[in-house]
Amino acid sequence: MKKKLSINAIKKAKNDRLLTMITAYDALFASLFEESADIILVGDSLNMSFNGRADTLSATLDQMIYHTNAVCNGAKNTFVICDMPFGTYNSTRQALKNAIRVYQESPADAIKIEGGKDKADLIKSLTQNGIAVCGHIGLLPQSVRGEGGYIVRGKDVNDMEALIEDAEAIEAAGAFCIVVEGVKTEAAKAISLAVKIPVIGIGAGADVDGQVLVFSDMLGLFEAFTPKFVKKYLNGASLVKKAVSSYKSEVETRDFPAQEHTY
Ligand code: KIV
Repeated sequence: MKKKLSINAIKKAKNDRLLTMITAYDALFASLFEESADIILVGDSLNMSFNGRADTLSATLDQMIYHTNAVCNGAKNTFVICDMPFGTYNSTRQALKNAIRVYQESPADAIKIEGGKDKADLIKSLTQNGIAVCGHIGLLPQSVRGEGGYIVRGKDVNDMEALIEDAEAIEAAGAFCIVVEGVKTEAAKAISLAVKIPVIGIGAGADVDGQVLVFSDMLGLFEAFTPKFVKKYLNGASLVKKAVSSYKSEVETRDFPAQEHTY
């Protein structure tokens, strides 16, 4: 049986093997991902693909805890990270209170927080109080309204240096890994070289320590838009539509249920 990774095993993976992280929001998909995923992220992206909203900002802590419990139920042998939603970690006190809620109300192994060196003190306070923190720098989906869009980072030397400072500050604060999103390949590589903890990329090229994808994107289930960095490993949406259409046809012709489906 698969053994759940510890924080130390995740840290040690750096320079040894590449880590595979995937999002999940429910027990069913989590159970399907368990065999292959090193880490499952209950991302606040669920607010878009699961809840049908335009961005992640209206996800609530109650929702994140609910979905984290479902994922942990489905993938008991996988390291699970709960994303802290927008507005739940604006101060150290608030972050601590809400992260403790996540630990007390779910079996989550860690939490994730968006932000760079501006969040370093807050992350330090969490890690010093026994909370495992995954950082998240680069393109920050929770800042989409404040910044007026999803902006790719690391396009010039100054921004690259700022991102490296962010990563170093988060590492010094005690985070065990960092998600780096929407960053030019060269900058992501420099970030990975600058820190000893694993850098998990999404839209950050191949020169990092692992990758994360939103499951509904990589399974081709989410049709609203497809970011450039997504590879579709399945044409999920067309397969599902075809299956439901076949079901409808067979209901209408009474081909379903057949003899073997009846009592
Ligand atoms: O919410 C999410 O799914 C995420 C990933 C994009 C890393 O934060």
